[in-house]
Amino acid sequence: MEVIITSNYEEICEKATRIIHQAWKRKNNLVLGLATGKTPLGVYKKIVELYENGEMDFSQVVAFTLDEYLGLEENHPQSFAYYMEKNFYQHTNIKEENIFRLEGKPENIKTHCQEYEEKIKNLGGIDIQILGIGRNGHIGFNEPSSSLASRTRVKTLTRETIGDNARFFKNREDVPRFCLTMGIGTVMDAKMIILLASGKNKSEAVFKSIEGPVTAMVPASVLQLHPQVKIIIDEEASSLLTRKEYYKWVYQNKEKVKDFLE
Ligand code: F6R
Repeated sequence: MEVIITSNYEEICEKATRIIHQAWKRKNNLVLGLATGKTPLGVYKKIVELYENGEMDFSQVVAFTLDEYLGLEENHPQSFAYYMEKNFYQHTNIKEENIFRLEGKPENIKTHCQEYEEKIKNLGGIDIQILGIGRNGHIGFNEPSSSLASRTRVKTLTRETIGDNARFFKNREDVPRFCLTMGIGTVMDAKMIILLASGKNKSEAVFKSIEGPVTAMVPASVLQLHPQVKIIIDEEASSLLTRKEYYKWVYQNKEKVKDFLE
């Protein structure tokens, strides 16, 4: 687990974008797993800028959305399909056939989830999974107590998450109660995972995920068991970490020798 502490949100986005860009240079048909929410917005903006400047091309890139509200149509302004379209896909040359979405209204939920898993597998697995983190430590919509081995499935949202996401809807009552989400096991199969967190309200979840025990009560803590995880956070989100100076030292020294390693 590599903990990268930055001075602000802008720097989180720069670092995450750089990692994705470098990975794309090595593998043009990069398979991305993409979270929605407020946190990754800056990364998607920067990725789009790379495309506009001719530094990145998406003709071979494949994208899988991490989760979706159950019951919302694809073109609903709060659906994650709509979010990804508006904030990323429509601004690049990614091909429609390379975009995979969890549907808000699938004909058969179980079959749809199984097919999603199969699609990921058939395309060689996710190369980079981008994650945000909930205040309760959720990743995707895997709420506390989700099985650490779970696969893509339907989940009930906690009252806390419904409250947090109410800001995106007109009324709290409009927030769907159910969702589809890649499972924790699905996320853990990604070759690299980048988790982003910004702001003080994420500091407790960040602390428990990095320095606490691995537990289903803090889903993001399972990332401690993954061999290639980068946690990119700002000073505020890192404020409760007890080994902050150590993480900074390790990162800075790695930065110093990176030219020899690459
Ligand atoms: C969104 C998702 C969620 C968010 C998390 C943080 O696709 O899977 O886990 O990443 O709730 O959301 P923000 O970034 O809005 O604080």
